[in-house]
Amino acid sequence: MKKSDADNSLEKIVSLCKRRGFVFPSSEIYDGFTAVYDFGPYGVELANNIKKEWWKAMVQLRDDVVGLDSAIFMSPKIWEASGHVKGFSDPLTECKKCHSRLRLDTLLEEAGIFADEKMSEEEINVIFDKNVKKIKCPTCGSSDFTPGKKFNLLVQSNLGNFTSDWTKEPTYLRGETCQGIYVNYKNVLDTARVKIPFGIAQIGKAFRNEITARQFIFRTREFEQMEMQYFTRPEEMMKYYEEWKKARWNFYLDLGISAKNLQWHKHENLVFYAKEAYDIEYKFPFGFKELEGLHARGDYDLTQHSKFSGKDLSYLDPSDNQKFMPTVVETSAGVGRTFLAVLSEAYHEEAAGEETRVVLKLKPSLAPIKVAVFPLLKNKPELVKKARAVFDTLKMNYRAEFDDNGNIGKRYRRQDEIGTPYCITVDFDSLENDDVTIRERDTMEQKRININELVKFLSTKI
Ligand code: GAP
Repeated sequence: MKKSDADNSLEKIVSLCKRRGFVFPSSEIYDGFTAVYDFGPYGVELANNIKKEWWKAMVQLRDDVVGLDSAIFMSPKIWEASGHVKGFSDPLTECKKCHSRLRLDTLLEEAGIFADEKMSEEEINVIFDKNVKKIKCPTCGSSDFTPGKKFNLLVQSNLGNFTSDWTKEPTYLRGETCQGIYVNYKNVLDTARVKIPFGIAQIGKAFRNEITARQFIFRTREFEQMEMQYFTRPEEMMKYYEEWKKARWNFYLDLGISAKNLQWHKHENLVFYAKEAYDIEYKFPFGFKELEGLHARGDYDLTQHSKFSGKDLSYLDPSDNQKFMPTVVETSAGVGRTFLAVLSEAYHEEAAGEETRVVLKLKPSLAPIKVAVFPLLKNKPELVKKARAVFDTLKMNYRAEFDDNGNIGKRYRRQDEIGTPYCITVDFDSLENDDVTIRERDTMEQKRININELVKFLSTKI
């Protein structure tokens, strides 16, 4: 059955996430904490599966990329060298009537006026002043705003600072994971038997003081990034940039995202050192928005860290004895945004007999639960015992779930909603023949299969 446009509206996805334990608003029993979310029992499985797929594609299957897990806290000098202390900001305005704090570039964009987050404060204020009559505060509808100001997104902390005025010398929670990669570049080079070109990949938390955080987990103040920096010879950077563009596009197709819901967005307003920057955008329920950024960054990052640390980070190529500062191709994706894209893509409502079933058509390797095992009846000990034995075998290989609650139809619906690709029912025939019914999520087809063949069958499907 065809899925209608409204089927995967954000509201429905948010409701499913809450109802089935994928995502909870942070600190809910204390009335919540803005722009932070927690992943529940099924959410953590899905997020882990996304990270596993990324790690497999970016590290395991490549002999030119190695992994890293650097700390969230780093020397504050790193954030000066990277330019974040001075330049990592969004334009902020305040509604004079209701005092809502708003992102000026987003307000312009929502009014259909082109603005780029990389524009300077002056540039954006000129556009804002020209168009202010067309712009309305989303809370109270007023068009009376304060002039735009740059607001720094770095989150400060007082870690290790025991003076009373620690704000003068703050430490920071990292604003992006890749700085940990740059500052470990030499350690990896000296220890991991790599030579240029090679990449370093890492998955980890990042923190930003986002001004407006709407659209569920799309923009949050604490989030996880999956970043890879690929170090190249300067003359080869663009060649590898093109290769990584292809690889990253194909990654999303491999996750089960359809090409019609993906598009490239080229950044016209580049920072001075960048050669090229593209985003891969996904058609979220609220429109095409950035899923991942790919940047040809030149040698800016290593040059800055060389300057600020006083350590020479240039590379001596053993093949021709040439010394140069490596250039960088960056691929930078968010776990939360991939999670939301995968859920938006997978969410379907379909007629099933008299009812409508909600089904998450997730790629099996992403599904939180791979297989559910049911005894036909809860009050027949011999069925429960046999179903438990099947479950105990399968759980050694797969994230499995045992469910004996309610009628079989209801149990199927529960598993469909969380995207479980296979359900197995143990019935009276199973006691005689040692076989079970296996039901496939998308087609709802059922067939009999011998218990001894279950692991082999699932291994070919998942
Ligand atoms: N190192 C480059 C960098 O951090 P970015 O475009 O700021 O680039 C990269 O972020 C990716 O991180 C984005 O494409 C998005 O998937 C994710 N991301 C950034 N800010 C986010 C936020 N506030 N909430 C959730 N994900 C975010």
